[in-house]
Amino acid sequence: MREIADKVFWIGKVDDRKVPFHRLVLEKGTSYNAYLIRDEKTALIDTVDMLYGKEFTDNLGKEMDLLTLDFIVINHTEPDHSGALGSLIRKAQNAKVVCTAFAVYELMEMYKIDKERFLVVRTGDTLNLGTKTLSFHETPFLHTEETMVTYLEEEKMLFTCDIFSTHIADNDRLLVSELEDEDSILEDFKVYYKLIMDPHRRYVLPMIDVVKKLDIRTIATSHGYILDQNVEKYMGIYEEAALQSKENVKALILYNTMSGNTKKMARILENELTEQGFIVESINTEKAELEEVLTKIQYADGILFGTSTKYADIPGNLEAILKELKELEVEGKPAAAFGSYGWSGEAVEVVQDYLVGAGMKALRSSDVIKSTGMSDISFPLRVRFNPENSTNEIKAAASVFADAIRF
Ligand code: FEO
Repeated sequence: MREIADKVFWIGKVDDRKVPFHRLVLEKGTSYNAYLIRDEKTALIDTVDMLYGKEFTDNLGKEMDLLTLDFIVINHTEPDHSGALGSLIRKAQNAKVVCTAFAVYELMEMYKIDKERFLVVRTGDTLNLGTKTLSFHETPFLHTEETMVTYLEEEKMLFTCDIFSTHIADNDRLLVSELEDEDSILEDFKVYYKLIMDPHRRYVLPMIDVVKKLDIRTIATSHGYILDQNVEKYMGIYEEAALQSKENVKALILYNTMSGNTKKMARILENELTEQGFIVESINTEKAELEEVLTKIQYADGILFGTSTKYADIPGNLEAILKELKELEVEGKPAAAFGSYGWSGEAVEVVQDYLVGAGMKALRSSDVIKSTGMSDISFPLRVRFNPENSTNEIKAAASVFADAIRF
């Protein structure tokens, strides 16, 4: 435990293994930074990876009577930050878990926590600890739906969990100001952005708007160094990258085709989106490598999935791609299903189920009607046999999709 500001302590874990993470290996390791604020009331901000959960709870128990812990703030539910909750919640029996509404169900399921242990917060809510005050600010989809950041007003300190983090393990230094050359982390900082945040880049500028309204002196991240100086530089890197993405919105069309009709639909969609100024790539999934397609999905701003229907099912290897979606960073990403069919067209509906199951923002007729008032465009977009007589409907659907992927 190390004091990093008045009554604020770092109590994390440096993980200097080659850490398996999101289909990658973190060659430089990482850290899981948690923070303890010991005011009249005591609040813990995030915890550590599940692997070190018991060790963390034991260490915290040596520093304080866990029954006096009042709040456990969980900014992000992934188990590399919430991982000690399972052991902690049973020992810190008086602590409330402070999180967004979206986080409650996940934490209840993961750690078997009773509903009454939660204190749900929304953007702008505050929590008085005595002489210090926390405020909470939702940052959805950075990088999962339930995320928020927590601001400690008196210390001008923002606890951002994954946001502005870097995957580096350093057993000697905690603060970026302790580095001989602060800029030596910039490459890793940008790689982290690319891997973790860029797939959700449409949510970066709204987050920047939120944090710019706060007077921030220190960004207390949950991986790597605490950014205790030049915070504008790090925020600027995120903002610049997101602004560049806004200029170059990428649509990806993946399709299979039996008789060529779904391919024709893909062409109409591609032409319309290209005319509207987007960068569009169409891929026949029968002619592409799985890994290549998954990478393209990761870096597209929105994806259209097209399928024919064969014996009420999805032909070819599109389904193998759909099965991988849950493993990718696609939560909240706009998507739509389309396809030509001859009899009942079940496959398009099955595709839709996969998109919803992966947490993508899959266009649905009811949402289109509610948001635009247009009742003549259907999503999933299904056309019987040859789409040539449905060109206008497909172009209109492309326009709705275009609106969904614009930043
Ligand atoms: Fe560092 Fe999304 O977990």
